[in-house]
Amino acid sequence: MKLIRLLLASVVLIQGAVTANARPLEEIQKSGKVIVATGGEFPPFNYFEGKKLSGFEIEVAEIVVKKMGLAIEWKTLGFDSLLAGLQQDRWDLVVSSHGVTEERAKAVDFASPHYCSGSSIVSRDPAIRAPADLNGKVVGVQTGSTYLENVRKLTKPKEIKNFPQDRDARTALATGRVDAWVTDKFVALAAVKANPEANLKLGDLLFVERIAAAVGKGNTGLAAAYNKALAEALADGSYAAVSNKYFGENVRCK
Ligand code: ARG
Repeated sequence: MKLIRLLLASVVLIQGAVTANARPLEEIQKSGKVIVATGGEFPPFNYFEGKKLSGFEIEVAEIVVKKMGLAIEWKTLGFDSLLAGLQQDRWDLVVSSHGVTEERAKAVDFASPHYCSGSSIVSRDPAIRAPADLNGKVVGVQTGSTYLENVRKLTKPKEIKNFPQDRDARTALATGRVDAWVTDKFVALAAVKANPEANLKLGDLLFVERIAAAVGKGNTGLAAAYNKALAEALADGSYAAVSNKYFGENVRCK
């Protein structure tokens, strides 16, 4: 009985995977709104200010989608489930600071990048600054992130500790459970400023990346409309205004 149930469940799963296809632009236009998923836990890019979803890329997405003549229905979910949900057609777009990687591009399509950044090494120990200083150390990173992938690829830590939420990796550093935390340089800067008592120090960059929204594989209509609207925002100064507000500089990709 158990086996039959298991078999049935896997048939349903496989069917779901095969039949799921992204909502085409025309269908999104008909509904008037695009469903956008984000983590809502990665300040200053996407986070909650009380009950309000805010952040640099949240505001940029609002501008872009408005230019597309649509409204946004936001969904906030765990970072690690965002691209998988896109593949299952549970939302149309993901805006959550995803770095463009070959691996991810096998599963989803990336739009034009909405900012360029790098990842910083953060530690309380002034002797941990450069990538080589991570060798033999315990490093905290967010699960499913490019930080995890690159710490693995570029350094030889004693242990990598995974945290579903980036801020928990930061807390682990503040409480001495990890020797270093690798995260986005702007996230790191904001964390250093917001937690002076934790004595966090910014080290070197480990790698740089282009950050883009993702659409379902093959959803070229949606990607093209989004890219066109993003290009307009980059050209008419509306992107620059939001970037200056958050960072005091323009973080667009050069
Ligand atoms: N840029 C990193 C990556 O591509 C981290 C993104 C984290 N985003 C978030 N919402 N927590 O994996």
